[in-house]
Amino acid sequence: MDKTIVKIKSTNESSYPIIYGEGLINNAFDFIKQYTKANKFLVVTNETVMPLYGSKLKKDNVEFLILPDGEVYKTMQTLNKIIDKALEVKLERKDAIIALGGGVIGDMSGFASAVYQRGIDFIQIPTTLLAQVDSSVGGKVAVNHPSGKNMIGAFYQPKLVLTDTSTLNTLDERQFKTGMSEVVKYAFIEKTCNANQIYNFMDFLKKNKELIILKDHQILAKLIKICCELKSAVVNQDEKDKGLRAILNFGHTYAHAIEKITDYKKYTHGEAVSIGMKMIFDFALKINSISKEYYKEAIDLINDYGLITRLDFMPDENAFYNAMLSDKKIENSQIKLIIPKSRQEVKIEAVFDKKLLLEGIL
Ligand code: NAD
Ligand code: GLY
Repeated sequence: MDKTIVKIKSTNESSYPIIYGEGLINNAFDFIKQYTKANKFLVVTNETVMPLYGSKLKKDNVEFLILPDGEVYKTMQTLNKIIDKALEVKLERKDAIIALGGGVIGDMSGFASAVYQRGIDFIQIPTTLLAQVDSSVGGKVAVNHPSGKNMIGAFYQPKLVLTDTSTLNTLDERQFKTGMSEVVKYAFIEKTCNANQIYNFMDFLKKNKELIILKDHQILAKLIKICCELKSAVVNQDEKDKGLRAILNFGHTYAHAIEKITDYKKYTHGEAVSIGMKMIFDFALKINSISKEYYKEAIDLINDYGLITRLDFMPDENAFYNAMLSDKKIENSQIKLIIPKSRQEVKIEAVFDKKLLLEGIL
């Protein structure tokens, strides 16, 4: 078992641990009861995860809500279902919601926890690689709106993130790669995260490729910890996304547009992110922001993990651009891009040139 403490600077109250280990879910409540005074729990999960791990959390004081599976259900309608269930089982203010699942379940349950009776305790038990390295940490909780992704949400930190690496055993290849996309993202932004420690994460990913692909638990635990520590470092400096935190969305301006124009159905979030990262590297090379050597090293790393880098259809340029404009990283109608600057370093810049922005998409 290992631990990282996320300590949000603005409010000590927001300090919480991420506890990692193999098999932790078997004794989940031994950990949970240390971080909440809840008498009753509502576990929010989905129809895929429930049969795999739901029984591990069954207890007299635990109620379950099993939602349909998929990003298309990350909506206000589903949020209402969580609130309805919380009311039905009479969840009180001191009680807690537990998210058991991937990022979709985590984001929606966190938002429900933030608004139900103006906020009740929230516990994350992330079961996908993407959720373990990214979405369960940092307190961004949201649902989508037809006009754009994560348009309705809040910053609401969990009381505890309980990460059981053995849940990754049941994840299929596609979802594992989806998580690897966000993992690789941290390698490209590491220096700008300004963490206390230098991990040389790009080298770590190159060196340990075989073990990572084989899902070796020890190496995965290390990898998850590095990602969470990099993310915590950024969140600790900028919880409310006023500046630095934008770097966590490296590749995401393109990715969110890809997800939107394909109705959140064709690509997983991580697949859209790996395509988006390739697009932004192409963009950076075109504007001479990075060397050809670094460009090649970065694209090789994305390819090493078998991540997809190209759309397999020709998008309508205007539709794509409009989708980019509906991203939350818009300021004064300008698109703010996270652009590679040098090895493992990025910069945040407003970009005006529509033609240049779109050149990279094909
Ligand atoms: P997901 O939640 O849809 O999970 C992917 C699939 O894996 C689903 O079918 C799910 O049922 C299944 N699954 C989950 N755990 C499993 C397991 N252990 N074994 C087998 N199958 C399992 O997708 P995701 O990739 O985890 O998360 C994507 C979401 O996260 C997006 O909505 C994205 O916007 C959000 N996100 C949020 C943040 C944040 O900071 N809040 C960061 C990154 C992404
Ligand atoms: N995933 C982006 C963020 O947490 O800010």
